[in-house]
Amino acid sequence: MSLWGGRFSQASDDDLRALNDSIDFDYVLYAEDIEGSIVYARALAHAEVITQAEAETIIGGLRQVLQEFDSDAFEFAEDDEDIHTAVERRLIEIVGEVGGKLHTGRSRNDQVATDFRLWAMRAAENLASELRQLQSALIAVAEPHCETVLPGYTHLQPAQPISVAHWLMSFFWMLERDQDRLRSARERMAECPLGSGALAGNPFPVDRRQLAADLGFERPGENSLDAVSDRDFVADLLYAASLCSIHLSRLAEDILIYSNPAFGFITLDDRYSTGSSLMPQKRNADPMELMRGKTGRLIGNLSGFLSTLKGLPSGYNKDLQEDKEALFDSLETMHRLLPVIAASVASLAINADAMSDALSEDLLATDLADYLVKKGLPFRRAHHAVGAIVRKAAEQGAALSDLDLETLQSVSGYFAEDVAAVFDFGRSVQERKSFGGTSPGAVKLQIKRAKSVLRQ
Ligand code: ARG
Repeated sequence: MSLWGGRFSQASDDDLRALNDSIDFDYVLYAEDIEGSIVYARALAHAEVITQAEAETIIGGLRQVLQEFDSDAFEFAEDDEDIHTAVERRLIEIVGEVGGKLHTGRSRNDQVATDFRLWAMRAAENLASELRQLQSALIAVAEPHCETVLPGYTHLQPAQPISVAHWLMSFFWMLERDQDRLRSARERMAECPLGSGALAGNPFPVDRRQLAADLGFERPGENSLDAVSDRDFVADLLYAASLCSIHLSRLAEDILIYSNPAFGFITLDDRYSTGSSLMPQKRNADPMELMRGKTGRLIGNLSGFLSTLKGLPSGYNKDLQEDKEALFDSLETMHRLLPVIAASVASLAINADAMSDALSEDLLATDLADYLVKKGLPFRRAHHAVGAIVRKAAEQGAALSDLDLETLQSVSGYFAEDVAAVFDFGRSVQERKSFGGTSPGAVKLQIKRAKSVLRQ
């Protein structure tokens, strides 16, 4: 018989049970569920709803249940609908009738909201620490390459030269914003629902501030009706994880493109590359494609769960049970991806020669315009003049530096002998010294700040 069976004359239909039961996935909340119950038993004793001795007995029983779960010895029963009923059923088996006092004033509604928040606070921390590994790997690969130059792209068309370090560090900062989102999500979720009852509050004098503090929350939720049905923390984490995966799918896409032999800028280590069953020459970057592909799954979990929340009436509704698989799946997916992505990045071979071979003088067209600006020509006219020069060079099938001074001067009288110095990729990079720019000095400072962010 289920824990709520008193009102019914017949047991639930088997198919309904299979649909309704959540034990198959929510059993992972056992530690949080038991932790919440231990603290709640103490609160009941403190409120003199149960005696100190009864609380001790209940807490002893709960510790045994925890131990059974930890050692894989817990035996599930037919009627264990979810983790909350399973733990309570086993508690009563161990300690007898007194175990039935634990749920006084409590509902599975405040209970599940508490358990899942505790779980989510820890999961957010784990995700943050796995992200930190990847951020460290990015720094480690970037640091020796502040002067290694590759073509930078906009619209995936050659744009301006940048350094390898600058390219890699751009992802560090995306991930740092993800860290920030995880931190703020964690701060918002630190509100304890326990003591809210089913929706209306708890008629026994349990101290909600104490409950919150004992469980490591910052504060109790302000409104019991809101507290039992607030799943903003799930949406927050699903969003933080999704956006993080979107950032990583962009890194993955760069790695896929740059490791294509047509570019050849980087080589993924053998351990993180895969081959073809048919084509012997193949070297595929499957982990990067999985990163890109699984991002769709994370976005799906987010948008699916937001749809679940939309238009729910006040209070707890069983729809909310959909929160768990979505969040479990997104976080488990990230947990599988992140170590592989971090190790792939850490072992990335940087092919500086292929990068340098790919530097075409077109990438210096902006520098050529800047040269004219420094001579006194307004930028818009300089842009136009260099446009004409690029067209001339293209017509002649020549590089920009192949055009002689006379040809350049036919377009603008501002060109002089010293224009030759412009055709230097290292110099172009060197000159972009502004805060956050690609010059080696600016990137070194960027890396220094990144390291100090990581130390905090
Ligand atoms: N398994 C349920 C869930 O995950 C627990 C809460 C059930 N509450 C209820 N009133 N049926 O949401």
